[in-house]
Amino acid sequence: MIETIIPGDRRSAVYDFWRTDKVLKDRCQFIAGQYQRYVDNPTVENYFMSLVTDYILEGLYFYNGFITFYNFASRMLMPGSADIFKMINRDELSHVRLFQKLIPEAMAIFPHSKDAIYEMMDTAVRHECKWTNHIVGNNILGITEHSTEQYTKYLANIRLKAIGLDALYPEPRYQKSPYSHLERFSDTKAEGHTKANFFEAQVTSYVMSSGVGGWDEI
Ligand SMILES: [Fe+2]
Repeated sequence: MIETIIPGDRRSAVYDFWRTDKVLKDRCQFIAGQYQRYVDNPTVENYFMSLVTDYILEGLYFYNGFITFYNFASRMLMPGSADIFKMINRDELSHVRLFQKLIPEAMAIFPHSKDAIYEMMDTAVRHECKWTNHIVGNNILGITEHSTEQYTKYLANIRLKAIGLDALYPEPRYQKSPYSHLERFSDTKAEGHTKANFFEAQVTSYVMSSGVGGWDEI
């Protein structure tokens, strides 16, 4: 989308937005800081927490962004972009499934603190809500600061339960998604929340931006 919409000389401002936006920088630093902790001090505990960081990154971050485009699509706005987000969403959910298998195995092997997992999830929820309120807020029809909080806490609950932990937010309003009416746009209703029937779907693919260097090294 950036390659299509934003003129070349302004693209780096988008990619570098974290440098000038404190809310975004704090959000990025929280995740990056978890990995840095392992780099600086490579203990098994820190390795385990890096796995949890991966899980939160795959399973909590981004989803309010997906919702923004499904909301647009529900009003026939930017349906092509919603289709691309649907594919990215499906990719992320397949990564979530990987970590849902991996983390319980890791819990059986590595020393870890459940309280640290809950605390990390709670901090991630706060970052995700703060960022979404900062960039979307109440300015897009179908999304409010209230629905963002409800959805993010609902997501945290289902992610925790999927790895054998308890819901962090036990109140009834955090047990269901405020965006279930958008599931026909996200196409992620099947068991495991991944796309229902791959073989009936049209074969499409998306490409990553070439506007940022360094991806080849990853
Ligand atoms: Fe992913």
